[in-house]
Amino acid sequence: MSIIDDFQSHFDAAPDGVWQAPGRVNLIGEHTDYNNGFVLPFAIDRQARVAVRLRSDSVIRLRSASAEVAPIETSVDQLSSAKGWSAYLLGVAWVLRELGISVPGFDLLLESTVPSGAGLSSSAALESATALAFNELLDAGLSRKELVIVGHRAENEVVGAPTGILDQSASLLAAEGRAVFLDCLSRESELVPLDLPAAGLAMLVIDTKVSHAHADGGYSARRASCERGASALGVDSLRELSVEDLPRAQTALNEETFRRVRHIVTENARVLEVVAALRSSGPRSIGELLNASHLSMRDDFEISCPELDLAVETTQRNGAIGARMTGGGFGGSAIALIPLEREQQIRSAVLLAFSVAGFSTPDLFTVLPGPGAQRLV
Ligand code: GLA
Repeated sequence: MSIIDDFQSHFDAAPDGVWQAPGRVNLIGEHTDYNNGFVLPFAIDRQARVAVRLRSDSVIRLRSASAEVAPIETSVDQLSSAKGWSAYLLGVAWVLRELGISVPGFDLLLESTVPSGAGLSSSAALESATALAFNELLDAGLSRKELVIVGHRAENEVVGAPTGILDQSASLLAAEGRAVFLDCLSRESELVPLDLPAAGLAMLVIDTKVSHAHADGGYSARRASCERGASALGVDSLRELSVEDLPRAQTALNEETFRRVRHIVTENARVLEVVAALRSSGPRSIGELLNASHLSMRDDFEISCPELDLAVETTQRNGAIGARMTGGGFGGSAIALIPLEREQQIRSAVLLAFSVAGFSTPDLFTVLPGPGAQRLV
């Protein structure tokens, strides 16, 4: 395996092991995680891999297989000041130390096939692979659910992105051919069948190449609106509201906050409907719910952008079962659930539509629900 050879050549020793963790597509349930609601992501068949060797001193050496990323040398005493790509990895080590687990120095080589900035959780893939590696190497004995929280804390407290637990949960709790139905209040999860090839379907990802950064304003502004809405309505989180509460919410809130709240409340309901539909009738039955989710994000939550809307509308017009933007929004990727036999037609239509609109050429690829994080060697 080349990551082992690369590790050996950079660090003059073999790694103690190699771990991998996937990126994710969120099938439905957007911005519901930090509102204690429901989400339904699946792990994709693209992963981050880390080869790690513990050291006997406090030195940390990090390298990425990507030529654009410079190596980093630091120490276990400087974990909390990590910046850039290293913050995801060092943030995990920092959280483990906060939990009272002693982390020595280490050498780590990273390679990843999860495109970064595409809204497919390349960062959670790094955190989850690193968390799993340290959990085993340090005999920390944390469960996967606890490792979700380790990655989530690294992202919130070291990277500084106020995200929820969706991405790390998908990466650590997923299974092949399944989606992860997660209740973000109880933190209980169940696997739901999502066998796309058996249904004659594929999941096409349209990476618009429009960059998004969750540490930036839009994401936290939405989060703040949700918190304002919950507090004005006298609930701890929007999870406590159902569609029957919406008329009351409309009277109590200003127009914009009401639309933010309506997205979360209806999106939670759609997640439950998708789970029920997948279980009773399979993936061909969820298209309208995906489409409705996109409209809600476009019009009520206002986190889409012209490129995402064009990707969604073009795939819908050309025979997709359903389509929506996925992830935090303001850029990143859309997903389209498509009949296998329509793939070429839909790809060509999207490329043409983007070219006519004068947008950058998007990246198009299909993904399959893959396994969760695991040790490879
Ligand atoms: C990003 C965040 C997640 C979640 C989604 C929106 O991916 O990291 O926690 O909030 O956006 O659903």
